[in-house]
Amino acid sequence: MSIDYLIKPGGNLRGRLRVPGDKSISHRAVILASLAQGVSHIDGLLQGEDVLATVAAFRAMGVHIEGPQGGRATIEGAGLQGLQPPVVPLDMGNSGTAMRLLAGVLAAQRFDSKLVGDASLQRRPMRRITEPLISMGAMIATGEDGRPPLSISGGRSLHGIDYVMPVASAQVKSALLLAGLYAKGSTTLTEPAITRDHTERMLRAFGYAVESEGRRVRILGGGNLFGCEMPVPGDLSSAAFFLVGAAIAPEADLLLEGVGVNPTRTGIIELLQRMGAAIAVSSRGEMGGEPVADIRVRSSKLRGIVIDRDDVPRAIDEFPALFVAAACAEGQTVLRGAEELRVKESDRIAVMAEGLTQLGVSARERPDGITIRGSRLSGGHVQSHGDHRVAMAFAVAALAAGGTIVVHDCKNVNTSFPGFATLASQAGLPIEVEESTE
Ligand code: S3P
Repeated sequence: MSIDYLIKPGGNLRGRLRVPGDKSISHRAVILASLAQGVSHIDGLLQGEDVLATVAAFRAMGVHIEGPQGGRATIEGAGLQGLQPPVVPLDMGNSGTAMRLLAGVLAAQRFDSKLVGDASLQRRPMRRITEPLISMGAMIATGEDGRPPLSISGGRSLHGIDYVMPVASAQVKSALLLAGLYAKGSTTLTEPAITRDHTERMLRAFGYAVESEGRRVRILGGGNLFGCEMPVPGDLSSAAFFLVGAAIAPEADLLLEGVGVNPTRTGIIELLQRMGAAIAVSSRGEMGGEPVADIRVRSSKLRGIVIDRDDVPRAIDEFPALFVAAACAEGQTVLRGAEELRVKESDRIAVMAEGLTQLGVSARERPDGITIRGSRLSGGHVQSHGDHRVAMAFAVAALAAGGTIVVHDCKNVNTSFPGFATLASQAGLPIEVEESTE
C-alpha cells in the first residue's frame, strides 16, 4: 500500500498543539530502561515505527515491555548482562538510530546477533560505527561497502578507547557510549562539533556517571543502570514542520506546547529567527533531565541567509523543512558543509532540490549543500522518495503555494510522526490522505 498527501492552497495554522514525543529520546529511553536494573515507566514515548522497532528488538531479547499505550510504557529492565539471544534477525525498519545504537549494545553481548533494515536503511553507511567498535574489540561483519546487514559476534570482551570522531554524529557517539558501558576501562570520545547529548543526559538520569566537557565525553565501564521514571518531551524535529508552516502561512499564529529545547537541537529556531521568523520561546521547564518549552510562531516575512558547516549538526534533521522556508524567503539561502544530508533516510539535498524544482523554485545542488532562491511556489507533484521528513516538508509548503501540492510516498511519516495529517488538519492545514495499492 502507498500513501499520498493532497494539500490544497488556502490552509493556515492557528491555535495550539502538542507534537508527539521526541524520537531520539524515545529510542534511548527504551534502550536504557531495558538495560537497567528494576522497573522504568516512560511517559510520552513516541509510538512511531522507528521506536517500535527498538521496542520489538528488546522484546526479542527477552525484555518484558508493557505498552506503549497512550505514550506510556513500563519496562522491566534485564540489567546490563540480562539480555537473551534473539532467535531471528532484529529488524530495525527505517531507523538508522535504532541500528547504530543497538550495534553498540550488541557488540558487547555474549551471543551472536544480526541487524537488518528496510531498503533505505540498507543504503546507509555503517563503518562509522563498526570501525571504532572493532577497535574496542568487537567483531562485526557488514554487507557490501560497509552497509547493513550487520552480523555481530558475541562473546568478545571490549576495552575502552580514546577516539577522535571523524563525523559529527550523535548516533556514533551514542553507540560507542553504550559499548563503553561494557568496556574495560574508560571510553573517551572527541566530536568534531557538538551533537545532541540525549544519551549523556539519560545515562545520568539512570544513575550512570558520564563526564562531558565541550566536545569531549568520557564514560567508565562496569557500572549499573537503575530503572526510573522517564517523561519524554515533544519532538522539536516534528515541531519544525509547524514552525516553518506557520512562518510561511499568511495569517498564522500557533503555540507548540511542551517541546524539547535541548540546546544541541535548537538550531532550527535560531536559523529561522535569523531568517526573520517571529518565534518566541516561553514557559521553560525540565523533563527527565531535558529542557522543554512552549514555542509561539507567527506569519513572518523571511529573508535568505548563509548557513555554514558549524550550524549544521544542531539542525541536522530540520533541513527539509528549512529548505521550504528558504524557498519562501526573499533572496537566496546558501547551505554549505552539509554533506551528511546525503546519507539520511534519503539523499536530502538531491530529493529536496528535485521537489523544489518541481514547484517552480530555483534550487542548485552542490556536493556539500544547496543554494535556494526564494520565489512563489506553484502547485505540483513531488516525490518524497520514502523520506518522512521530506514528505512533511512538502506538505507544509502548500501553506505558501499557488496551487494544490500532491506528495507521493508518504507512508514513512509513521516512522517519526504518526497522526501528522490529522494534527495538521486540526490546526488549519487540511491534508487529504489517499491510499492506493501498488
Ligand atoms: C540522531 C542523530 C542524528 C539524526 C537522527 C537521530 C540520534 O543522526 O539525524 O535523526 O538520535 O542520535 P547522526 O548522528 O547520524 O547525525
